[in-house]
Amino acid sequence: MTAESDPFVPAFEARDVAVRFGGVTALDGVSISVPPASLVGLVGPNGAGKTTLFSVCSGLLRPNAGQVYIGGVDVTDASPQDRARRGLARTFQQPELFMGLTVREHLVLAYRARHRRARLWKDMVTPGSLRKPEPAETERVRYLLELISLADVADVPVDVLPLGTTRLVEVGRALATSPSLVLLDEPSAGLDHWESERLAQALRRTVEDERLSMLLVEHDVAMVLGLSNYVFVLDFGELLAEGPPELIRSDPRVKAAYLGEGPEAAAVLPDQPETEPQTAEDAASPR
Ligand SMILES: Nc1ncnc2c1ncn2[C@@H]1O[C@H](COP(=O)(O)OP(=O)(O)OP(=O)(O)O)[C@@H](O)[C@H]1O
Ligand SMILES: [Mg+2]
Repeated sequence: MTAESDPFVPAFEARDVAVRFGGVTALDGVSISVPPASLVGLVGPNGAGKTTLFSVCSGLLRPNAGQVYIGGVDVTDASPQDRARRGLARTFQQPELFMGLTVREHLVLAYRARHRRARLWKDMVTPGSLRKPEPAETERVRYLLELISLADVADVPVDVLPLGTTRLVEVGRALATSPSLVLLDEPSAGLDHWESERLAQALRRTVEDERLSMLLVEHDVAMVLGLSNYVFVLDFGELLAEGPPELIRSDPRVKAAYLGEGPEAAAVLPDQPETEPQTAEDAASPR
C-alpha cells in the first residue's frame, strides 16, 4: 500500500531530530508528522529552528540524531536528489532563482526536471529550447501561473521582479515538479495582505485538488492558523506545542511563553480564525 492510499502512513515524519552547530543546539529531539493530503503549519520566533528543520527534511543537512521518513521510508541518509525523486519539493527562505530566465521558463525547467529528465541538459545548452514546450507541460505551467497569480508576469525575467513575487515563483517551481510533499519556507514574506490571502487560498486549493501534503513555515501566525489542519510550534529548538489551530490559538503556553501576554500576542493569535474554519475531520491529529 502506498502512502497516498494509506491514511495512517504519514506523508512525512521527522523523529527525535537533533542538530547542533558548534555550541548552538538548533534542534533538540524534535518530532513532527505530516499526514497525506494535509496542510501542516510550523511556527516559532526567529531562531527557533524552523529553517534548520526544513534543511534536515530536504536532506541539505544531516542531523546529529534522529530519523526522517517520506511515505514511511527512512530517508535519513538519502541525498536531496533521492528525496526529490520520492516526491519532495521545497522553497528557500531566500529565493534561489536563475537570473535572466523568465517566470514561465523557471516553471518549465522545474517540470522537465521531474517529468522529462533526459531533455533537461539539452534545454540548458540549446538556445531557444525552453521556448518549445509540449502540450502537457504547457497546460500544467499555464494552470500554475494562474493558480498563484503569476500569469501577468509570466514572460518577465525574474531579475526585475519584486522580492515578494520571486517567492511566488519559488512556490510555482516547487509545484511544477508535481510533488507529493512540499516544504514552504515563508512564502508570503514581502507580499501585501491581499497577495498573501491569494497565496493562502492557492495553497489550500492545491492541497485539496492535488491531494498533496504541505509543511508551511510562516511568520504570519494568523495565516498559518487560518490555513492549517494541524500546527507545530517550535521555540529554542524544542517543540513547545502541537495540535489543531483552535487548540494552538488558545494554548496558554504559546501565548505566554512564546508570544508574550500583551496586545501583541492578541494580534498574532486572534481568537477567531481569519479564513474558513477547518472541519473537525480536517483538524484530526495526524498521529
Ligand atoms: N549554518 C549555521 N551555523 C551556525 N548556526 C546556525 C546555522 N544555521 C542556523 N543556526 C542557528 O541555529 C538556530 C536556528 O536557526 P534557524 O535559521 O533554523 O531558525 P528559524 O526558526 O528558521 O529562524 P527565522 O525565523 O529567523 O528564519 C539559530 O540560533 C541560528 O543562529
Ligand atoms: Mg528561517
